[in-house]
Amino acid sequence: MRIICEPDYESMSRAAANIISAQIILKPDCVLGLATGGTPLGIYRQLIEWYKKGDLDFSECSAVNLDEYCGLAADDAQSYAYFMRENLFEHINIAPEKTFIPNGMNPDTENECSRYDGIIERLGGVDLQLLGIGHNGHIGFNEPGSSLPGGTNCVTLTKRTIEANRRFFSRVEDVPQKAYTMGLKGIMGAKRILLAASGESKAEILYRTFDGLIETDVPSSMLQLHGDVIVVADEAALSVIRKKAPGLLSRG
Ligand code: GLP
Repeated sequence: MRIICEPDYESMSRAAANIISAQIILKPDCVLGLATGGTPLGIYRQLIEWYKKGDLDFSECSAVNLDEYCGLAADDAQSYAYFMRENLFEHINIAPEKTFIPNGMNPDTENECSRYDGIIERLGGVDLQLLGIGHNGHIGFNEPGSSLPGGTNCVTLTKRTIEANRRFFSRVEDVPQKAYTMGLKGIMGAKRILLAASGESKAEILYRTFDGLIETDVPSSMLQLHGDVIVVADEAALSVIRKKAPGLLSRG
């Protein structure tokens, strides 16, 4: 695991976008695992800027997203499908048929989960998985619990996650209670993982993720078992690691 420490959100976003660009340049037909939430927005803005300057070409790339809310259609402004189009896909030259996201409108959970796992498998797995992190250590929407499903699954969101995500909805009651998420097998199966984090509110969970026990109560702690994880974070997000486990910061 390597931690890249940046002074602020903007430079964290640029550093993470640089790693994604390198991936695309080195393997133009790569499979990118993409994330939603507030954290990746700056990364996507940067990628769009470089694409518009002619420095990046997404034409051969595929993209698989981590998750989608159950009950929201792809044209619903709160859906992650909409988020991805608005914040990235519509501004770059990725082929729409090469972008994948769980279908939140499929009521047949088993069918949707195996359909999505089939897509990941057919693509040959993810080359570079971009991750954000929830305050409780969820990655994708894999919430803390006594066990963690390997494959794509349908999760009931915790109160804390619903609260954290309510800022994207007008009322807390509008936040869906369930979501489809890529499982730990899909995430951990990625050849390389890029975890982006910003702000003091992520500092404690980043510390627990990388210096705590590996436990299902902190799903992100599984990342300790992956051989190629790059964390790109700003000073604020790394403040607890800097205080309690500074050794992690100097690892190559
Ligand atoms: C949601 C997403 C996660 C994301 C998390 C953190 O729950 N499903 O993939 O990592 O939010 O979001 P933010 O980056 O806004 O803190």
